[in-house]
Amino acid sequence: MGKIFNMFLYIFISSFALSYAQSCNNYTFSTNQIYATCVSLPVLNSHLHWNYHSNGTVDVAFRHTGSTASQWVAWALNVNGSGMIGAQAIVAVTSPSGAVRVYTSAVNNYGTGLEESSLSFGVPRMIAERVNGDLVVYASLVLPNGRTRFNHVWQVGPVNNGVLSMHSMSPDNRNSVGEVDFITGQMRAGGRSGDVSRQRRRNAHGVLNVVSWGVLMPIGAMSARYLKAFNVANPAWFYIHAATQTSAYIVGVSGWATGLKLGSESSGIKHNAHRNIGIILFALGTLQVFALLLRPKPDHKYRFYWNIYHRSIGYCVIILSIVNMYRGLDILDPEKKWKNAYTGIIISLGVITLLCEALKWFIVLKRKKEEKRTHAGTNGSIGDNGYGQSV
Ligand SMILES: *[C@@H]1O[C@H](CO)[C@@H](O)[C@H](O)[C@H]1NC(C)=O
Ligand SMILES: *[C@@H]1O[C@H](CO)[C@@H](O)[C@H](O)[C@H]1NC(C)=O
Ligand SMILES: *[C@@H]1O[C@H](CO)[C@@H](O)[C@H](O)[C@H]1NC(C)=O
Ligand SMILES: *[C@@H]1O[C@H](CO)[C@@H](O)[C@H](O)[C@H]1NC(C)=O
Repeated sequence: MGKIFNMFLYIFISSFALSYAQSCNNYTFSTNQIYATCVSLPVLNSHLHWNYHSNGTVDVAFRHTGSTASQWVAWALNVNGSGMIGAQAIVAVTSPSGAVRVYTSAVNNYGTGLEESSLSFGVPRMIAERVNGDLVVYASLVLPNGRTRFNHVWQVGPVNNGVLSMHSMSPDNRNSVGEVDFITGQMRAGGRSGDVSRQRRRNAHGVLNVVSWGVLMPIGAMSARYLKAFNVANPAWFYIHAATQTSAYIVGVSGWATGLKLGSESSGIKHNAHRNIGIILFALGTLQVFALLLRPKPDHKYRFYWNIYHRSIGYCVIILSIVNMYRGLDILDPEKKWKNAYTGIIISLGVITLLCEALKWFIVLKRKKEEKRTHAGTNGSIGDNGYGQSV
């Protein structure tokens, strides 16, 4: 089913690419340069022409039609990621004198002013001109790592008093991303299908992990710590705790697996740290689940040590999980909407924990007092129910 769908998608995209190609391959450049391949990009009146050489270089001409002197134009390869962050851009700006300045800018944040900086690959030649309302950027690129297929992104924005301002957020300006293969000439029409399915997988990864590691596991730990103390559910607290953590673990492992798949498609310091913490978490989480099977009987002399071990690993997992949720949400959603929502959840859990903690101490102290007064402390009070010392 999926295969058939992919095949149709492929045919659809290829015919798109072909029809685009036909409408731009008769353009005559002022230099009379002939390019073997050309593709009209789906948004922002842009066309990409190129010749690929077997030594791994490509000569491109990026053409923005209907361009005005008060606009900047950029075209970029995103070598390791997709979209704006990581884009290795070639930028063209028309100066007041009418000359076109062209330079490179590696984009690493959303607040960029497209300042000049060097790219992660070589650009031995770069010129730009303005012809009949078209802005044309010519550049030769030394493609990195012998690769020929890249995500690319192109953009047009306003220039105010010589300052490059942020592009608008219209659908066209947001959809100006795609994938280009310099050998086959194949384009994803805007790369949308790839980006959409990848974004869907990223979201799934985020939701699964936030629900499991980020929310259920802390709740599972709270159920162990407080239900037991309140004596409301004894020994049911144990089954509630075990069931919560086991389901969190199962959901968490599927979230973790989607993350590994995503991680194999991206790199960078942020991604690597997030992945490494994820792997540590998986190892500790697995240890916790299997430790249950090795749990000594309540009166066993090692039970005390097992309890210490189980709790310290448990708290480590929770702290690391929360840290990694934030790292992941930073990567997933630079606009911080998810992050703010998660912060809300964590604050609520924190407040509930504080209240429970206060109540727990109140109950414990009260019980101790009663025991002292009657000299008849019941042997079945907290901490003596076979599930370990509390507090
Ligand atoms: C290129 O071909 C298209 C149709 O294939 C035509 O509409 C367009 O006018 C041609 N452009 C030039 C510059 O010849
Ligand atoms: C690659 O080949 C092209 C075309 O033959 C040539 O113009 C260019 O200088 C070569 N680049 C390198 C780095 O060898
Ligand atoms: C892309 O990743 C490779 C390998 O990790 C690295 O060498 C290169 O600098 C990265 N490029 C960018 C633009 O981040
Ligand atoms: C608690 O139990 C022990 C034996 O299990 C018994 O000797 C002791 O008297 C009990 N204490 C109270 C306060 O009931």
